[in-house]
Amino acid sequence: MTTDRVPAFGEIDPPARLLMGPGPINAHPRVLRAMSAQLLGQFDPEFTGYMNETMALYRQVFQTGNRWTFLIDGTARAGIEASLVSLLEPGDRIVILSAGRFGLLLREIAERCGAEITVVEAEWGQVIQESSIEQAVSRVRPRVVAAVYGDTSTTMAQPIAGLGRLCARHGALLYVDATATLGGMDVPVDAWGADIVTAGLQKCLAGPSGSAPITLSERAAARIDGRRHIERGIAGGGDRPASGLRIASNYFDLAMLMDYWSERRLNHHTEASSMLYAARECARLVVEEGLPARIARHRVNGEAMAAGLVAMGLTLFGDQANKMANVVGIEIPSGVNGERVRTRMRTEFEIEIGSSFGPLAGRIWRIGTMGYNCRRDAVLITLGALEAVLRAEGVALRSGAAVDAARARYAVAGV
Ligand SMILES: Cc1ncc(COP(=O)(O)O)c(C=O)c1O
Repeated sequence: MTTDRVPAFGEIDPPARLLMGPGPINAHPRVLRAMSAQLLGQFDPEFTGYMNETMALYRQVFQTGNRWTFLIDGTARAGIEASLVSLLEPGDRIVILSAGRFGLLLREIAERCGAEITVVEAEWGQVIQESSIEQAVSRVRPRVVAAVYGDTSTTMAQPIAGLGRLCARHGALLYVDATATLGGMDVPVDAWGADIVTAGLQKCLAGPSGSAPITLSERAAARIDGRRHIERGIAGGGDRPASGLRIASNYFDLAMLMDYWSERRLNHHTEASSMLYAARECARLVVEEGLPARIARHRVNGEAMAAGLVAMGLTLFGDQANKMANVVGIEIPSGVNGERVRTRMRTEFEIEIGSSFGPLAGRIWRIGTMGYNCRRDAVLITLGALEAVLRAEGVALRSGAAVDAARARYAVAGV
């Protein structure tokens, strides 16, 4: 192999893009500033203080009293994988609610855990009825029920409210992926009776991807504690003997991660300090704004975006009664080249909007109004640009209708 010399390339200088897709979105400038703070050793008392503050802040964001509320280093799926691999042993039964790409991801991860899987499905664009879930859970008697609250691939938010009680009745643990809704829609972990909920920073939390907030109930923690096996190189004489079947991943072993985030500070990995700074700042922003105000902001901006799109004559995708507040799916009108529209949005207006996956690839666009980009100016600019691009692509539109309709929605909200 030859090792050709490469130039040093230029310093990173990204274009000033407005990220209005389903995530990632532009990070809040305060989050970027926090990430540029100097590193500390992970056992430095200043740093462990930041870790404790982060735990306290995320208890508020998740609306929970759960002691075990912390961060998994990695993108949002690190939180999903840590949860499922730590709960599930080969042969354990799991019921998965699947109506989009991220329901399929739950399945894919549970398969890798060797679980016995029952999937309750709905068509992409719909949500699953509680009666079908109840039927499956009472028949299968699973250890875990797993759901996605806000599947960005379809823009639907599966109702979660009744699931905690349902799972408790049947002795199952409830896992919820709230990657795309935490900090933008209501995620009341304790009121839901959810046992593990995980998220990511790159959607409503206004940060970069790379850290996955997680919260665990006492029941979930007890289940995981029953599988505690401390890594050989760090085990001490006084450690409780190992028990249960060892968790199949070292990196995502929640028992060891809980030790790491406890007063013991048992050395697991080297904490991703800059990501912790980012996650802490994301949560500080939520707590400062207040959850009710933040949820209302996501609702109003999402509705203004939807009103503008409808006024343009476009059709919104899926069951509107169960739509996420912060991402909207739009059917690509027949005869319009969806990818060319996205390219023109990016090259002419510096705006990114999303397409979708699987059965929805080429059928819908997805536009987000999340976190830092959940703002009136971002909504109005995106609507104006989309209208201009569609007209340039030959779609007959009434000029200005979209922005006017969004403005009307803001007027009603007094914004
Ligand atoms: C609902 C949901 N779950 C999981 C993920 C996976 O997140 P990541 O790409 O950060 O691993 C995403 C990403 O879009 C998501 O929207």
